[in-house]
Amino acid sequence: MNPFRAGLPWIAALLALALCLACGDSSPPAGGAERAGGRIVINFVTWKPNLPEVWQEALAGFHASHPGLAVRRQIGPHSSTAFHDLLTQKLKNRSREVDVFLMDVVWPPEFASAGWALPLDAYFPPRERAAFFPAAMEANTFAGKVYGAPFNIDTGMLFYRRDLLAARKWRPPETWPQLVEQARAVMADEAGAGRYFQGYAGQFKQYEGLVCDMLEFILSAGGRIMDPETGRCLLAEPRALKAVAFVREQLMGRVAPRGSLIYQEPESLALFVQGRALFLRSWPYAWQVSNDPQKSKVAGKVGMAPLPHFPGGQGRAALGGWQMGISAYSRHPEAAWAFIKYVTSRPVQKLFAIKGGRAPTRRDLYEDPEVLAAQPHLAEMGRSFAQAAARPRTPLYPALSRLLQVYFSRALCDPQADLPSLAQSACRQIDELTALSREARP
Ligand code: GLC
Repeated sequence: MNPFRAGLPWIAALLALALCLACGDSSPPAGGAERAGGRIVINFVTWKPNLPEVWQEALAGFHASHPGLAVRRQIGPHSSTAFHDLLTQKLKNRSREVDVFLMDVVWPPEFASAGWALPLDAYFPPRERAAFFPAAMEANTFAGKVYGAPFNIDTGMLFYRRDLLAARKWRPPETWPQLVEQARAVMADEAGAGRYFQGYAGQFKQYEGLVCDMLEFILSAGGRIMDPETGRCLLAEPRALKAVAFVREQLMGRVAPRGSLIYQEPESLALFVQGRALFLRSWPYAWQVSNDPQKSKVAGKVGMAPLPHFPGGQGRAALGGWQMGISAYSRHPEAAWAFIKYVTSRPVQKLFAIKGGRAPTRRDLYEDPEVLAAQPHLAEMGRSFAQAAARPRTPLYPALSRLLQVYFSRALCDPQADLPSLAQSACRQIDELTALSREARP
């Protein structure tokens, strides 16, 4: 049995012990205005949004409909990894200045085990949960309790310059080698015309996004990161190695700039919207941003397709997305829930879908004519979520992710590094983490 799937109680105990050691003084810090002008303040810790105006509109709607409540945002970094560090630091300190937070889809088991997230079962009855995609609800459930309300779903997608492919009568690539071929041809033409132009923009910095991108390459080669049953690391198997070698040898420094070794989502999107890349791997909101004439030089010239695969494989998108949780140390859980209920409500999800390009977590919005008129690709996406690849579900996910990030980053950065031995060494550490989990089981 794979301990990473089992959600074992001992993992919670281990984590709690680690946290106790880390947090030191656990008394709540004083201060933090909880009322402003007679209104209860809801402290909302969020990342830096791509389209801030949509959040502003949503918040204005909340304040208009909830006169006794005021949301104070603490805006953290865009990167999932950096945002995790900031948020968990506050939660480890039992900060009273956190009421509501966004959680990446891979965090609920950790937040639940650590006691940071309040169980929402009392607020979020099963009949309300039924309106959301089951996979999104499952991601928020740990040891039988619900810890988050799903805000948006993400799946990896390929964005491309429709104009440049159409001019050559090409269809979007179905395989990774085709993508490289198209990228090289267009790069050569652009270079001939004296323009700086790249073939492929993705997320290759050492952070959570790297795990998503590399998971997609590996799965689309027929490889796997871990055996889903035993938890055994499979990175040193030939198909996984082939995928990593392809990224290092065919993409990096060839059709993708070497600079993309430090790209996260914003940098890769910036290259694409500046008209400097043929392909972009990103999440659904990139459609909205790249088609916004205020933000993009390629508005109206963008196409969107499923991710390619290796010959003989199948394209696989990583499953991502964000959830809203309540801090276990919040003094205003009711007010916090009112805010979450509003943000995840049908009209607000619709606003984020139409104006923010966020894929909703409420199922019926995938049949809503206004949503589909603004985001036609959502019809197909609604059908494909079930096939998206989830990352391992474990309270120890940050430790596992860190090992994966270090391996992928070393593998891609050093063209001379011996991949099989790097992969074997990563696997030894991952298997040790798995074994440690087993040994600690009572
Ligand atoms: C997106 C996804 C999230 C993922 C992150 C990686 O925000 O929604 O699940 O971990 O990208 O950068």
